Amino acid sequence: MNRNSLPKLSLFPLTTEVNSVGHVYIGGCDCVELVKEYGTPLYVFDELTLCSKCREFQTEFTKRYSDTLVIYASKAFLNRALALILKEEGLGLDVVSGGELSLAQSVEFPKDKVYFHGNNKTEGELKQALDWGIGRIVVDNLYELDLVHRLAGDMGITQPVLLRLTPGVDPHTHRYTTTGVLDSKFGFPLATGQAETAVVQAISDSNLDLVGFHFHLGSPIPEVSPYQLAIDIVLRFAKEMEVKHGFHLREFSPGGGFAVQYKIGYPVPSVADYAEAIISKLTSIADELGLTYPRLIVEPGRGIVAQAGVALYTVGAVKEIPEVRSYICVDGGIGDNVRPALYEANYEALVANRVNEKESARVTIAGRFCESGDILIRDVNLAPVSPGDVIAIPANGAYSIPMASNYNMVPKPAIVLVKDGKAGLIRRRESYQDLMNLDVI
Ligand code: LLP
Repeated sequence: MNRNSLPKLSLFPLTTEVNSVGHVYIGGCDCVELVKEYGTPLYVFDELTLCSKCREFQTEFTKRYSDTLVIYASKAFLNRALALILKEEGLGLDVVSGGELSLAQSVEFPKDKVYFHGNNKTEGELKQALDWGIGRIVVDNLYELDLVHRLAGDMGITQPVLLRLTPGVDPHTHRYTTTGVLDSKFGFPLATGQAETAVVQAISDSNLDLVGFHFHLGSPIPEVSPYQLAIDIVLRFAKEMEVKHGFHLREFSPGGGFAVQYKIGYPVPSVADYAEAIISKLTSIADELGLTYPRLIVEPGRGIVAQAGVALYTVGAVKEIPEVRSYICVDGGIGDNVRPALYEANYEALVANRVNEKESARVTIAGRFCESGDILIRDVNLAPVSPGDVIAIPANGAYSIPMASNYNMVPKPAIVLVKDGKAGLIRRRESYQDLMNLDVI
């Protein structure tokens, strides 16, 4: 059986296969064997899919617009092994904290390609970034503009910065992940005149080099039209700033937010679709306004890592409530993937050791945490399930592990990276001792 024979398999990493006894293989590794060796919950990342996504973004954008830099939004998932792959693939990095920055520093990520985002970076974090010589700081508000000015002044340097703008465009995604509208904690609103104030302040400051504008509308954005609308608005603003204040746009970033497919029957635009929509709009508006083409920065997070990651769980209790619901309880849940509870995110699943069996059971996959809302998937068709079976949930590489918690004092899962039949542990499972190590009494 291959990826085309069962629709759900198309959501799995590109190397996924099923052997004759119905076990899922990823990167040449049998998931059932991985579970025996590393336990569950286990997150499996396929290196080939990660590299292929990095290349897809780079190719689709640069073949249409050569001056593009793809920077990975590390909040989607960051770890040292992944950072080394991204570095090797030539991507840049978007970091949003001293922690993400420290990890970038620890692998000697090329600092000129590191962009520091965030609506409330602390003074300590900004100092850490400036001391290191970070490529860009994406300034989010007037308080931060003053702070970066002062810190850069103290160091006697001129720091390249972008301004994060809020164009007032609704990306039609979950309200918790909508950012580009006026009523948002992020960015300088265009509508209130604050964006212009920031431009004037930044260009008159010898410790700041205002290289461009950034916006990020939200995530995931399942259509291309919000990007086009916002590009139009922000480029017209850039032209206005050129005419009024002599500002020249050298870098332009429409952020990230590129959707991925989580469910069969809910397709999303391809990377090529996003690239075409963004670049055609960027070039046509720049031509119309007579703007010099800026460097384009795109910031995919989910789009790089989601498909590469699969969560594996072991089934424990199976609870039938006749004519109501069948609960399949697994050994993970809200602690390692809060997305269903937080955003009503939907996933598919299959029984990784019974892929050849007919999916005749309609079940709900529940987590092991003490919350009724700890449901990973409501109503999914699976092969008949018994305790000890392995459930695989695909498209799980983004925002699961980085948002994990130790609720109920449950250790966070292990992560393995698979390639060519070999699995390497890239993050060990937490132990109970780890959970107590930070208590000082
Ligand atoms: N750039 C900026 C400035 C961002 O804030 C984000 C995501 C990205 C890029 C990358 O967006 P992506 O390409 O990954 O969609 N926890 C939520 C998603 C929050 C996204 C936060 N910012 C979720 O699980 O869906």
